[in-house]
Amino acid sequence: MTKSETLFQRAVKVMPGGVNSPVRAFGSIGASPKFIKSAEGAYLYDEDGNRYIDYIGSWGPMILGHGQPEVLDCVIEACKRGLSFGAATAPEVEMAELVCELIPSIEMVRMVNSGTEAVMSAIRLARGYTKRNKIIKFTGCYHGHSDGLLVKAGSGAMTSGIPDSLGVPVGCTQDTLSADYNNLDSVKGYFERCGEEIAAVIVEPVAANMGVVPPKPGFLEGLRSLCDQYGALLIFDEVITGFRLGICGAQGYYGIKPDLTTFGKIIGGGMPVGAYGGSREIMELVAPVGGVYQAGTLSGNPVAMAAGIAQLMILKEHPEYYVQLNEHANKFYQNIQEILKKSGRPYRVNHVGSLGCLYFTDTEVVDYESAKTSDTKAFTDYCNYMIGHGVYLAPSQFEAMFLSMAHTEEMLQETLKIIEEYFQ
Ligand SMILES: Cc1ncc(COP(=O)(O)O)c(C=O)c1O
Repeated sequence: MTKSETLFQRAVKVMPGGVNSPVRAFGSIGASPKFIKSAEGAYLYDEDGNRYIDYIGSWGPMILGHGQPEVLDCVIEACKRGLSFGAATAPEVEMAELVCELIPSIEMVRMVNSGTEAVMSAIRLARGYTKRNKIIKFTGCYHGHSDGLLVKAGSGAMTSGIPDSLGVPVGCTQDTLSADYNNLDSVKGYFERCGEEIAAVIVEPVAANMGVVPPKPGFLEGLRSLCDQYGALLIFDEVITGFRLGICGAQGYYGIKPDLTTFGKIIGGGMPVGAYGGSREIMELVAPVGGVYQAGTLSGNPVAMAAGIAQLMILKEHPEYYVQLNEHANKFYQNIQEILKKSGRPYRVNHVGSLGCLYFTDTEVVDYESAKTSDTKAFTDYCNYMIGHGVYLAPSQFEAMFLSMAHTEEMLQETLKIIEEYFQ
């Protein structure tokens, strides 16, 4: 038995499913998890000493690769000064200034501890600001596991087949309206029916929790103008896209200004962090200035801030890294599509910048329904083969592949070779 298998046997006895987050259990591909011991650059090493080229990158934040030396140094120095004070610190100010400088739609920001918390708080703020209750979300988009948003959710909820969770009272979701991604008419319909009750539209500007679904031209612009027309707020959930598609995230990439933005793990360079921000007018409604209550003992934690600031500073100072990453990624995903074509498979690769997904379907994937046409059994076989050959993919058809700036041309070629071998 491998060390990973032994650890999993122990884990299932003391943790639900043996894990602390569902997708990690590898259940949807009929396998058990690899227990990761360490990582460096774009490589992961498991407890048995196997090496993998990592296409998860901690689900996004390791955009510079694992163990980036400057980030590590800043974290070590911060640890020496103290792990947590529960008091105001200089790095929080530095982080807030940096986010406001980098993201033009943000004049004020509040740090939290996860993407879930960021979105949950942004929704409360949107409701407090507009004095309305309803929100529109999109089927297959995932915004964390807060009660009101576990409605037709993507990511692990989609993989496990429980898009609507047990334990969520009807009262918590009665104001959550689900529209179809890339379908403006479905959004318009809600606005026409109850526009004065809608506080906000929340969207993943690139849907990355049902695989990767790019917004159709005009979709995000259409959401912006519907929100303007009806006085609702537009919330971009940039937990995946923020500081990944470019230094200004998806809003910079597509040139759309949301009213509120949520960030997650990537803003903490791999530490447990989230944030939400927007205009001064809206953000000044948050406690202690305004009447929307939101708090957190560990929010703005100095070690997490040190990691986040270090990563963001590197990204800010090296715009060429994004150019290189996106060029590498475009070529890589196009090459996968070429391999599929050559091998006579009608499957499809969707990608935006470094985010990509191979769907085992001949249908164009533009929303939840079309994403679900993917043959998950075929994905399971492919995913197990790839992991067995040293390529660490998310163990779910409905998660993205994340390339980082540490993936070298050589690693990408090696990956393509393994993909080619599989399809041959
Ligand atoms: C778009 C989006 N929003 C919110 C979340 C929730 O973030 P967290 O898992 O940090 O709570 C996720 C998680 O992956 C996400 O992808």
